[in-house]
Amino acid sequence: MINHPSYAVEPWAVRETGLDLDTLAQSESVLALSNGHIGWRGNLDEGEPHGLPGSYLNGVHEVHSLPYAEAGYGYPESGQTVVNVANGKIIRLLVDDEPFDLRYGELHSHERVLDLRAGVLHRTCEWTSPSGRRVKVRSSRLVSLTQRAVAAVTYEVEPQGCEVRVVLQSELVANEELPRVVGDPRVAKTLQSPLESLEHAAEGNRLRLLHRTRNSGLRVAAAAGHTVVGPEGTRLSSESSEDVARLTVTSVLRDGQRLTMEKLVAYGWSAMRSLPGLRDQVDAALAGASGGAWQGLAAEQRAYLDAFWARADVEIDGDERIQQAVRFALFHVLQAGARAEQRALPAKGLTGSGYDGHAFWDTESFVLPLLTYSEPSAVRDALSWRRSTLPAARARATQLGLRGAAFPWRTIDGAECSAYWPAGSAAFHVNADIAEAVVRYVSATGDTAFDRDCGLELLVETARMWRSLGHHDHHGRFHIDGVTGPDEYTAVKDDNTYTNLMAAANLRAAADAAARYPDRATELGLDEEETASWRDAADAMYVPYNSELRVHEQHEGFTRLEHWDFDGTRPDQYPLLLHFPYFDLYRKQVIKQADLVLAMYTRGEYFDAEHKARNFTYYESLTVRDSSLSASCQAVMAAEIGHLRLAYEYLVEAALTDLEDLARNTRDGLHLASLAGTWTALVAGFGGMRPRGDTLAFTPKLPERFRRLAFRLQTRGRRLLIEIEHCAATYTLLEGAPLSLWHYDSSVTVATNAPQRLRIDPQPRLLQPSQPPGRAPLGHDAGTGAVTEVEGPAA
Ligand code: BGC
Repeated sequence: MINHPSYAVEPWAVRETGLDLDTLAQSESVLALSNGHIGWRGNLDEGEPHGLPGSYLNGVHEVHSLPYAEAGYGYPESGQTVVNVANGKIIRLLVDDEPFDLRYGELHSHERVLDLRAGVLHRTCEWTSPSGRRVKVRSSRLVSLTQRAVAAVTYEVEPQGCEVRVVLQSELVANEELPRVVGDPRVAKTLQSPLESLEHAAEGNRLRLLHRTRNSGLRVAAAAGHTVVGPEGTRLSSESSEDVARLTVTSVLRDGQRLTMEKLVAYGWSAMRSLPGLRDQVDAALAGASGGAWQGLAAEQRAYLDAFWARADVEIDGDERIQQAVRFALFHVLQAGARAEQRALPAKGLTGSGYDGHAFWDTESFVLPLLTYSEPSAVRDALSWRRSTLPAARARATQLGLRGAAFPWRTIDGAECSAYWPAGSAAFHVNADIAEAVVRYVSATGDTAFDRDCGLELLVETARMWRSLGHHDHHGRFHIDGVTGPDEYTAVKDDNTYTNLMAAANLRAAADAAARYPDRATELGLDEEETASWRDAADAMYVPYNSELRVHEQHEGFTRLEHWDFDGTRPDQYPLLLHFPYFDLYRKQVIKQADLVLAMYTRGEYFDAEHKARNFTYYESLTVRDSSLSASCQAVMAAEIGHLRLAYEYLVEAALTDLEDLARNTRDGLHLASLAGTWTALVAGFGGMRPRGDTLAFTPKLPERFRRLAFRLQTRGRRLLIEIEHCAATYTLLEGAPLSLWHYDSSVTVATNAPQRLRIDPQPRLLQPSQPPGRAPLGHDAGTGAVTEVEGPAA
């Protein structure tokens, strides 16, 4: 955890005003740039020092065998790991033959700024070399949101009060050596030299490297083009070898003179395309971008982001830190999804190699809700990616003796990569999470073409899986036994409430969709008997309940298990998964992350207000939040129930997870689910937004700390602005045809010329529920301006 305020609090930027080599890896994740296709970590231009070098292309991975001490039938045999592609960021500098390396000489100033409106990372520093030559270096970097295959860097060096001989080496470097980390299961497997060279070239100021991943056989191309401006006598030469292509520029700079370089980098990869095809692809991408070069790309980037902020911005009056954090979160979630175009959205986006670059349910349950209301085309693409993996999911279902499709717990290309069955394949709820994302997207956009051509098949195949996984007992009740819900400290249990309620919704949604498109349903082999069996199962879905305690059970029998010994657990023993055997966690009442509480959000209609409050208090006392996916869900339910202060505290925790490195593993990549959860905590928490039919319902209420919360949304082709103050909310239609919304129990119609301002009743004060000892949320003292440390890292 970072113990000093490392980033200045500003509304539209993340500014690092010094360089701390101990937290370099964390800042590389925070300052990462991506468009969902290309991912560049915020590594220093000169490549070293680094925390974790990272240049990724969505989908480029290597396969490796998954060894088991005791193998079993159906265990996945092959794992997948994201690999570094050629690093195109590198521009090394030599000052009078001495490498510009910040570990040597004297660093006078160093500033990096991630500009959230421009989509550019700027760096400025002044440094004196060990032999006393002082230079100023400025660079800017972007990964284009408009030209998917392109990234760019500008670099400028200027002597300060002296004459220097400078050398710039602009490189493409493949197979960079990676630091080895052992002992944390959440870190990526380190594969050294995963790429084998196919071709390399350096022609004038153009560089190109083509490689192939050794086992997965993917072809990867990187090319760079340069424009150099320097004083007379500036010379260029280039060379290439298997893993390095380099342009070298030498120049002598007098005081007041500058050497500048613009570098465009293009990437491409394919499992199928030929070598010449791929070569042409990156050359064409460079040619397409080189017209206006940096200026043009930067202008396009700004315009793209202006349009995004106009439909997605969130404003907070009264809390500058959360204001910055939510924009930072929105920016990174956009970066992850914007141009992923039918590839997975990994849990870390393309900001690091944590979790091996795998995508989980994080995508559909945490990231896609935000994108649904801000960048819906990214949601359509992400769900189309899921659909493209149906063959693998069907094969997995067959292998498990099930019908339909069993989507993987973790994957890059669609195959199950989880070697740990209890918290992997048994977490079947991912099927229902995907179905829920389909329903949400269709309801928010009215995209009937997607509904018919893509959504229906996802709903049908997931519903088939549920029907074959569960069974009716002799009373007719439908059970789903032996599965794992969201809480990974509980595994392979009967009737997980979240899973059952989500499966019921999945079954009903599939039957409804089949009725909307009968012809297409027939093509998928459906008949009325099958859809009737889905409705029967959904109607008969069993939900475990403890009538003595009057709380719903997380799974059948949960409330009778022994309680975890929280008093005997030391602060440094969190996260529990790194200090206690799963055997023990599984048989006690201790919860890693919101599970029943999440069910009360996503399937809120099933629970009445009284049960929501009682269940929340019960599970709150057991939830340790060893997963960063928890705080935002708890924030939403705390707000709904009326624990506004607690909701705010959870919001703070979700919002600062990466900026403050709360889980102490931001080095491996950002926690996208938690970033997206920041938006959810605000919009679904304090805004109380829930889909209702084809429109939206709001139950706004503000925490004491905020004076005003405003957010913009896109739904059904309209743009909306919702502004919440303590005693009233204003609904404004910014664009589109009139729309009916719900404000608490009143239906209101908004039109572009008629905003609606509606009263919010004062909230009753409730007794705050408590957490396990030492596990109060991070924001606990936030009202006083201080941030308490959480006791231990989360996963
Ligand atoms: C959480 C999962 C999550 C995964 C990836 C785990 O620690 O328990 O719910 O999907 O991390 O973020």
